[in-house]
Amino acid sequence: MTERLATDALNRPNRELDLSLRPGSFHDFVGQGKVRGRLELAVAAAKQRGDVLDHVLLSGPPGLGKTTLAHIVAEAMGVNIKVTSGPVIDKAGDLAGLLTSLERGDVLFIDEIHRMQKAVEEYLYTAMEDFMLDIMIDQGANARSVRIELKRFTLVGATTRSGLLSAPLRSRFGISNRLDYYGADELHQILDRSARLLNVEMDAEGSDEIAHRARGTPRIANNLLRRVRDFAQVKAEGKITRTVADQALTMLDIDRHGLDDMDKRILETILHKFAGGPVGLGSLAVSVSEEQDTIEDVYEPYLIQEGYLRRTPKGRVVTELCYERFGLKPRAQAGELGL
Ligand SMILES: Nc1ncnc2c1ncn2[C@@H]1O[C@H](COP(=O)(O)OP(=O)(O)OP(=O)(O)O)[C@@H](O)[C@H]1O
Ligand SMILES: [Mg+2]
Repeated sequence: MTERLATDALNRPNRELDLSLRPGSFHDFVGQGKVRGRLELAVAAAKQRGDVLDHVLLSGPPGLGKTTLAHIVAEAMGVNIKVTSGPVIDKAGDLAGLLTSLERGDVLFIDEIHRMQKAVEEYLYTAMEDFMLDIMIDQGANARSVRIELKRFTLVGATTRSGLLSAPLRSRFGISNRLDYYGADELHQILDRSARLLNVEMDAEGSDEIAHRARGTPRIANNLLRRVRDFAQVKAEGKITRTVADQALTMLDIDRHGLDDMDKRILETILHKFAGGPVGLGSLAVSVSEEQDTIEDVYEPYLIQEGYLRRTPKGRVVTELCYERFGLKPRAQAGELGL
């Protein structure tokens, strides 16, 4: 359990660090070439027309750059950004307050938009589509609806759980992008930039070692860099090399393959409790005590991308690579050998 907390902590937003290392422009934003290209184009086109940017939905697992992109988009459009999050807006009045404070073209960034209350979400539909709000005021016999006209704005919504977004909400975003895990090369570049900003001396191999152990996630990479820096400072005269990075990360129990504890628990459960699968998502979720949506949206994409897991019509199945990774013989092979 303590181990679980430790790895969760590595991908928890770290206000200070996130702010100081957050790229401020498309130019500094590494990777996600397609998403960046589409957003840059949409921004350029809207600016050329003197228009307001379409609403943008950004989805993808935690720590991949959704909040960062929302700020970059506002910066590139040259507009103000107001930041809030789904669970914080608990009355239609809160939403009205936010929306009426926006100037033409401003960005309203709603983080965790899938956690917005249904009743509030429905007001957002007309706001996004017609830039209008019909709000009920008073109660009982005095109840009446008041129409508020809004200035045209851009809603940027972020969600780690795109599966939970209702169809009407999803369909109101003109631009919808999913962020994917970063390759080791991209993380390497991000780490080099972060090391420069943090004034840490690190060679290419040291950067590479951290990059491979960061679960494809820039926020984890930056957090690992900070931990390795501490180690290097105390034990290695401040310089991060491959050996130093390896020693530091091994000491922290950071997996060589970039898997975190929940990743391992999911794979080991399928391997041991379900004989390698197939297992349905529901049974898997109960076995590892995690919500189905979280498994599907946050954990599985990485395991599938790395080739440890497959989704089949019958359920989840682990791959040969997964058996190898845990030092086991694949089941079919063991069967053929009569073991
Ligand atoms: N493409 C990138 N290039 C460089 N640094 C990045 C990139 N993406 C993310 N980062 C770094 O990772 C940190 C986390 O990113 P960000 O806060 O945007 O993630 P998020 O997707 O909003 O995560 P969450 O779902 O937890 O809110 C940023 O502060 C930034 O330092
Ligand atoms: Mg965020």
